[in-house]
Amino acid sequence: MGDIKVFKTVVSIQSILQFDYKKSKIGLVPTMGALHEGHMTLVQRSIKENDCTIVSIFVNPIQFNNASDLENYPRNMEQDLQLLKEQGDVIVFAPSVSEVYPENFQTVKLELGQMGLVMEGKFREGHFDGVVNVVNRLFEIIHPAHAYFGLKDFQQLAVVQYMTKKFALDLKIVGCEIYREKSGLASSSRNQRLTESQLIEALVISQALKQAKISAIDKSIQEVIEEAKRIFAASSLELEYFQIVDPTTLMDLKEWKSGAHACLTAYCGEVRLLDNLQLKPA
Ligand code: PAJ
Repeated sequence: MGDIKVFKTVVSIQSILQFDYKKSKIGLVPTMGALHEGHMTLVQRSIKENDCTIVSIFVNPIQFNNASDLENYPRNMEQDLQLLKEQGDVIVFAPSVSEVYPENFQTVKLELGQMGLVMEGKFREGHFDGVVNVVNRLFEIIHPAHAYFGLKDFQQLAVVQYMTKKFALDLKIVGCEIYREKSGLASSSRNQRLTESQLIEALVISQALKQAKISAIDKSIQEVIEEAKRIFAASSLELEYFQIVDPTTLMDLKEWKSGAHACLTAYCGEVRLLDNLQLKPA
């Protein structure tokens, strides 16, 4: 069992960083809580690669474009702290909204171009402006050497990498593989909202992605997309988008290229689930 220290204010975390961890290499794992094994793979990697690991737990209101999604977002601090304790020594930063966004807070604007208009940018308007602002603010408060993000949110990782380059930030963004349940379902805080039968129905997501990877060997991009749409049409899930994109620009591909990546979101009942898979080797 590790040691967990929890800080709720910017002043308190900055003072411990300044006094006790001045020369330490800091790893930051930004999260919105409701932690699961997927988050823990990021935490484990940070513990291994840094002197000190900070896990932020903050449900960022400005990245939700839907009030009920924000309201229904699972929150369970006690359980989160227990899970973190099992990983090792971790500092938790769990600020309130007014700590992250004080009255004098100046939002930053990053022109994302097409990257911000496709997929999650299209279906969740303003989402990435919210992500950019909170991640930039966390970097500003904590000054990590490394920050850990999951490939589960493929477009988010691309946006954060782009932001780091554009703002010339002095840190390394580390992308971590998607952690999946044995069933194939990508771990997600939102899975807590699925019923037992929905947990089974949702397996169509990883199955469709696996099938896409097999079909990518000898079918065209259009055929692979059509096949995925048919798989979803025969299921109880409602597909929102299934796209095959360039891994860096996130633009739709017309022809196969190395690193071609399939990204999708689908509704399982009320719950919006997100997943992706690399179809061609990079
Ligand atoms: P959250 O959904 O809590 O995810 C925190 C981090 O964990 C993200 O980088 C996400 O990609 C990663 N993650 C989630 N499930 C994963 C899985 N199954 N395998 C690997 N990594 C996984 O993403 C956010 O929070 C927020 O947008 C945030 C970056 C914290 C900004 O508010």
